Amino acid sequence: MIEKHNVSSYNRSSSKKFNFIKSIALVLLSSIALYSIHFNCLETPSEITLLKLAECPDAEIYRPKSYDSNKDVLYKIINDETFRNKSVVKMQNAVRIDTSSYDDLPIDVSKNLEKFQHFNVFHKQLREDFPLLHQTLELHMVNHFGLVYIWKGSDESLQPLLLMGHQDVVPINEDSLDQWDHPPFSADYDGKYLYGRGSGDCKNLVIGNMEGVEELIKVGFKPRRTVILSYGFDEEITGIRNKNAEFIESIYGKKSIYAVMDEGGVSLSQVGDSTMAIVGTGEKGYLDLSLAIQKKGGHSSIPQDHTAIGMMGDLIVQIENDKYPTYFTQYNPTFYQYVCYAENAVDIDEHLKHDILYSQVDELSNLNVRNYINSDRVTSYAIKTTQALDMIQGGVKVNALPEFVELKINSRVALEENITIAYDKFVKDAKVIADKYDLGLYVQFPYSNDTIEFKPPTDVGILTVKPINILEPSPVTTAHNSKWQLFAGTTRHVYEEIAYPEKYIDQGKRVIVTPGLGTGNTDTKLYWNLTDTIYRYRPGVLPSVLAGSHGINEYIEYDGHLQIIAFTFEYIQSVDESDD
Ligand SMILES: *[C@@H]1O[C@H](CO)[C@@H](O)[C@H](O)[C@H]1NC(C)=O
Ligand SMILES: *[C@@H]1O[C@H](CO)[C@@H](O)[C@H](O)[C@H]1NC(C)=O
Ligand SMILES: *[C@@H]1O[C@H](CO)[C@@H](O)[C@H](O)[C@H]1NC(C)=O
Ligand SMILES: *[C@@H]1O[C@H](CO)[C@@H](O)[C@H](O)[C@H]1NC(C)=O
Ligand SMILES: [Zn+2]
Repeated sequence: MIEKHNVSSYNRSSSKKFNFIKSIALVLLSSIALYSIHFNCLETPSEITLLKLAECPDAEIYRPKSYDSNKDVLYKIINDETFRNKSVVKMQNAVRIDTSSYDDLPIDVSKNLEKFQHFNVFHKQLREDFPLLHQTLELHMVNHFGLVYIWKGSDESLQPLLLMGHQDVVPINEDSLDQWDHPPFSADYDGKYLYGRGSGDCKNLVIGNMEGVEELIKVGFKPRRTVILSYGFDEEITGIRNKNAEFIESIYGKKSIYAVMDEGGVSLSQVGDSTMAIVGTGEKGYLDLSLAIQKKGGHSSIPQDHTAIGMMGDLIVQIENDKYPTYFTQYNPTFYQYVCYAENAVDIDEHLKHDILYSQVDELSNLNVRNYINSDRVTSYAIKTTQALDMIQGGVKVNALPEFVELKINSRVALEENITIAYDKFVKDAKVIADKYDLGLYVQFPYSNDTIEFKPPTDVGILTVKPINILEPSPVTTAHNSKWQLFAGTTRHVYEEIAYPEKYIDQGKRVIVTPGLGTGNTDTKLYWNLTDTIYRYRPGVLPSVLAGSHGINEYIEYDGHLQIIAFTFEYIQSVDESDD
């Protein structure tokens, strides 16, 4: 995400004047082409109309029509101390049940029910804390511990809305126990913060959804559009046991869901003087692969110039120096994040603003922006495929030549690329080294079980490349339709009018809601068949990555939790009123 902008550090590779003139020329040229393709427009295109191609997908504040009759409930959710205290108890109950997912849990759930018993305890607690929900919604247990709640709507022609999250949490590292200020399953609450594993990732979302639904039932809300709540139980360990999406597909079919909302994104983030809410509308791909060198061993008193470890060292240098290209394209939601920033920030460097807005018509502007984003490790991940050389193993004895060395790499694949493109880079690097040392080369490609012999094994040895795990970059959810307007508009409504009126509407300020890149692959990867609309976004002030999720001292700010409830309450009503 772009929190780390240092506005004063913008370096450009050209004088402003040159770039500006060049841009005008390019704008006029390319606008003719673009407009004739996209809009078939007969008017002479101007610079201003072209800029609209790169507009921040801004949304008006969106309130459900039922707002006036239900606003007391909303204010209660956000401001009432009794409500808050009751909510705290539900969150504490949920956090206190240890639902850790260990990497070694069996894949076959049916044959190992006893290994998942903690979820039964969790479900029992949910039934106690949400009696109305359990009376009103149909509950389906999928693959024993997956929860799918269906709140049937009166109009079956409307596509269901799907809210999701996960029940499991990341285990505690026993060695770090003494570093927790509050024991991880204490769920201590100090009036402002609630502490504990899972508080931010993501029992707050599960419990917040349920609390929102209970409040809706209490006010007599009956959905027109079906609402589904879907909670997996192994998100933290790949989601391979999660059959919820398959179950939902078996009832409703492919592309049958109005929208999916799941954890992810950045709730509120201060970028210079702008407050942004970043909704994950796409996720990078994922590629784990192995590169191994096999070579004859022998006594280390008579070595060759390069052992298998030495060759692997050269391969490592080759891979790390052969970097992936950067992109700044309209396909990537990151683009809109920067456009929204450029349009709204008053403290932005003028050159940077210009380059962002002209990036799609001026190559030099595009390059400047890419260099700017790429200069910071935290922001750079969004615009390129990354490679992390994470594991290496080889050699058995200090006086024996190594016979086998294996390197494992984790790569996150840019939205503009795909697994095949990312993988080919490694194959190319492997060829360079195989040629240099006269090694044979075997390559297994993704989506294939066959190993291709690029070069036969030699007396020196053989280099083998093979995939371990792959996931293509996700489809990208558009921000140019009314579903987005409704989602982003509800976010503004909850923050600006309900949660912080004194900070926003009272002062004429606003929240900018923008698409962005999700940070990690969640269970949403299982839902691609069900919908093109996936919002990875959890309302609330604190981004979970800053709140110790997966690490020590995980906590949430309780105000943020109440905002999840308020958002759920309003969003379900707004979607219900919409015919989309
Ligand atoms: C809410 O709980 C706090 C303790 O956390 C307590 O001091 C306060 O009196 C409670 N308020 C209400 C209205 O119950
Ligand atoms: C990956 O991208 C390349 C180039 O655009 C394309 O030819 C290929 O079909 C893509 N592969 C997949 C699996 O989408
Ligand atoms: C590869 O092998 C696995 C297991 O034998 C099989 O399920 C899969 O369909 C095969 N994939 C291809 C692309 O042949
Ligand atoms: C999506 O649909 C395809 C084609 O029917 C199927 O092979 C695949 O397993 C489905 N994906 C998931 C995650 O259910
Ligand atoms: Zn999570």
